[in-house]
Amino acid sequence: MDYLMHINGEDVGAELPKIDVINPANGEKVGSVPNGGKAEAKRAIEAAHTAFSSWSRLTAYERSNYLKKLNDLILENQEELAKTMTLEMGKPISQSIGEAVYAATFVEWYAEEAKRIYGETIPSHMTNKRMQVWKKPVGVVGAITPWNFPLAMITRKIAPALAAGCTVVVKPSRESPLTALKFMELVNEAGFPKGVVNIVTGSSSQIVGEMMENPLVRKVTFTGSTEVGKLLIEQSAKNVTKLSLELGGHAPFIVLDDANIDLAVEHAIISKFRNTGQTCVCANRIFVQEKVYDAFVEKFAERVRKLNVGDTFDKSVDIGPLINESGLEKVAHHVQEAVEKGAQVVTGGNRLASKGFYYAPTVIRDVDPSMEIMREETFGPVAPVQKIKTDEEAVALANDTPYGLAAYLFTENVARGIRIIEQLDYGIVGWNDGLPSAAQAPFGGMKESGYGREGGREGMEAFLETQYVSIGLS
Ligand code: SIN
Repeated sequence: MDYLMHINGEDVGAELPKIDVINPANGEKVGSVPNGGKAEAKRAIEAAHTAFSSWSRLTAYERSNYLKKLNDLILENQEELAKTMTLEMGKPISQSIGEAVYAATFVEWYAEEAKRIYGETIPSHMTNKRMQVWKKPVGVVGAITPWNFPLAMITRKIAPALAAGCTVVVKPSRESPLTALKFMELVNEAGFPKGVVNIVTGSSSQIVGEMMENPLVRKVTFTGSTEVGKLLIEQSAKNVTKLSLELGGHAPFIVLDDANIDLAVEHAIISKFRNTGQTCVCANRIFVQEKVYDAFVEKFAERVRKLNVGDTFDKSVDIGPLINESGLEKVAHHVQEAVEKGAQVVTGGNRLASKGFYYAPTVIRDVDPSMEIMREETFGPVAPVQKIKTDEEAVALANDTPYGLAAYLFTENVARGIRIIEQLDYGIVGWNDGLPSAAQAPFGGMKESGYGREGGREGMEAFLETQYVSIGLS
């Protein structure tokens, strides 16, 4: 099916040949989208700019009502949205349904939060002055979203932006634009005025280039690689465009000798294998203390062998394909390089012979920091496990990376847990919890994992300007 982009309340195409969207589970084409560029991005930005003056003047209650309607529509259409996600990026269907519900939580939470954008009154130092802080929406927002969560990363970005009074231009990933366009149908059904939400598909360099060059765009929010994030930082200098960057991660998952091992295994499964290991927050480096190392590896591998790999539309399937050939090659290379350097494959370790980009869920043990898998994000269903001795070593290894997005710690000892977490340079820590993400909590990283937060109060603040007003009284 041919899809169209959405600019200023209209479905539009582009002149260049369309972009085909391919199902990574079988290599079949599932649809195509227009190959938009600079011109389309400019039209969308101008439409968003025009819409801003009326959208930002609505009451918070009015904006909240639009978001509430959108939340209801996402929930009503969760099956349809999930099918599109599964088709275009290979997420197993039960996880796609989970993502649709997760996506709705951002819309619901920010619909409520729209009514709680408070300013401040500051005690004045003079009797004839009143001092106030007002909050204002930043203006037009460019939202650049990734393929691994084709819906939730859109709502996590645009729900707070819309609640704050901003208007948006979304650039979905080339690999997963169809979910975004299905979502746009719901935005229209919810009755959002034209130009408030626009979606432009096509060339990243041209569309994002226009977002960074056009002075009407006051904020860009991006989820993707650290490499691209650094380019955006450079480009943001031109118009001093505000940025929120959710970049790469390389999450340590620490299991101490007093941990509940069964719990740690279950949470390692959730953290590592959700979305076939293609999440920015997934456990990438599992560090286990020597006393429980063998027991953990054995139980973990036994559980990994039970993961169901296969037809992405089968509700019992846990593991789907990787997004594309290069994703698969990276995973295979990481395993091969680790094995050449002395790691042992406990289970998996091979590409699967089926059609599509499938790799067997894999556990490798006896890894060390010299291996690429322990230094770079793998983005696939491979869990490397390293033996460690002390708490100090756990902290040093965990922090020995340019990344600082998510970290996980498993210990039953409260004092030990607090001491370790205080030393972890990570924006998110799951303590006895492999799935900390939630709409009401701040999500984002330290160091080269980016800056700014999405979700929670911080996620709304990212789309607000602070205006200090000093009022002289006569
Ligand atoms: C991500 O991988 O970027 C998002 C994961 C999440 O929201 O838990």
